[in-house]
Parts: sequence; C-alpha cells; structure tokens
Amino acid sequence: MKTKTKPLFLKYFFFSLFVSIPILLLFSFQSLRRKTTDPPPGNQPSGDLRIRPGYTSYEAYLQLQLNKTLNPKLRKIWTTRDWDRKINVFAQFFQDLKQKQLLKNESKALCIGARVGQEVEALRRVGVADSVGIDLVPYPPLVLKGDFHNQPFKNDTFDFEFSNVFDHALYPDKFVGEIERTLRPGGVCVLHVALSRRSDKYSANDLYSVRPLTEMFGRSEVVHVRTVDGFGLDTEVVFRKKKLIGRS
Ligand SMILES: C[S@@+](CC[C@H](N)C(=O)[O-])C[C@H]1O[C@@H](n2cnc3c(N)ncnc32)[C@H](O)[C@@H]1O
Repeated sequence: MKTKTKPLFLKYFFFSLFVSIPILLLFSFQSLRRKTTDPPPGNQPSGDLRIRPGYTSYEAYLQLQLNKTLNPKLRKIWTTRDWDRKINVFAQFFQDLKQKQLLKNESKALCIGARVGQEVEALRRVGVADSVGIDLVPYPPLVLKGDFHNQPFKNDTFDFEFSNVFDHALYPDKFVGEIERTLRPGGVCVLHVALSRRSDKYSANDLYSVRPLTEMFGRSEVVHVRTVDGFGLDTEVVFRKKKLIGRS
C-alpha cells in the first residue's frame, strides 16, 4: 500500500511542476519586456501624445530652447535672408483664414512661440493690425517676452491665436489651457502641428494624431482639420472657443 501512494504523490507533484514552470516563465518574460521598453517614470505615454524623456528640470528645458533661439548666427539669418520668404508663406495661410471668416482685420491676434515675429509681421501685412507675438526671447515691437505655459495676458483677451510650436510644449495641457483662458468666447485658435514626421531635437513632445488636441481643448469645438505644408508641419487644426450658454 505504502509503496503505491508515494509514487502517485510524486507523479502529481512533477505534473504540477511541468504545468506551472512554463506559465511562470511566460509571465516573468512579459514583465521584463515591459520594464525595458517603457519610458522612464514621469514620462508615461498618454495615447497619441508623448512627452519626450530627458528633461531633468524646467530650467533644463528652458535652457535648451534658449540655446537655439539666442544663437546670434541663426538670429541674423532669421531676420535677413529668411525674413520675407517665411512672412510670405504665413501671409498665405492668414489670407486663407480670412476668406473662411476665421480671421478679420479687427481681430486682436496673438502668435505663440513667435521667435523673431515673422508670423506677426505677416498678420499685420494682411491687415490684422492689432497683432503681437510671445516668445521666451522678446523681439520688439513684434514679440513680447512670455512663456506659453503661463501667458502674460488676462482672461478673454484675444479673438485669434496662432501657433506652430505645440511640439515645444513640455506641458501640453498648460499650453492648451492658457490658449483657452486668453481666447475670448467665440475666439479662434489655429495650430500647425506635425503628425506624420517627428520634429527636431528641441521638441518636448511627439503627437501622433489630433485626438489628444481635441481632448485637451475641452472648452472649444473643432472647426476643421486639414493638410498643410508649413515649414515641416503637415496639419492645421482649428478650434473655436465655445460661447457661454445664455450669452451672445
Ligand atoms: C521652431 S521655433 C518657431 C518659431 C516661429 N514660430 C517660426 O515659425 O518662425 C520655436 C519657438 O518656440 C519658442 N519657445 C519654446 N518654448 C517656449 C515657451 N515655453 N514659451 C514661449 N516660447 C517658447 C522658442 O524660443 C522658439 O522661438
């Protein structure tokens, strides 16, 4: 009797080992794979918008941006050889927005991340006289000093805001929140973004679809999304800030 029960017990023991070891190996392989491919903590991907890892502090982020914007050789090129070429392209975009009634000569307009202000100059040339830009580095009179994560303007200030620097936002939700705060109800925001190509080393985030934008612009509605050719940026997304119910 004894000699019969012991081999049976051992048989069950080895059988359960045989079944459980591959399952355990599978689970540990999967968790190892997850650990090695995940971005570092604090930079978790959020759907189609990913913050780039590597920014150790806000000061480090600002310093990287300033390294390029303050480069004297580049500033010389932007304000001489590149000046009119870029203004003409911006002016075509703004004319098109005027034709679509999304921008008017009377609009109070802001350009976000405007560097030396070619988009501001383009707005003025197409007749939108009350136009100004903000950037970390001022370029008076076209561009005032201002961080787009914390715009230096009161609520409900502008009728129109334009930016082609969404990819430079370390905190995209603040970037969008500030636009919705400073736009008047009924005001229009036009963003030029890159969806089909990764932008340069100064970018702080990567966008893979317009969905994260539409989710963040919670106080606005989408007016249109279209393909454009804007200095490496391929998509124009236009929002209109909703008017408060009960007000005209
Ligand atoms: C690719 S350049 C675009 C310049 C301009 N919009 C143009 O098309 O000529 C990005 C600009 O965003 C500015 N920038 C980056 N981070 C910023 C921030 N937090 N607040 C304001 N401007 C910022 C940089 O200084 C730089 O001038």
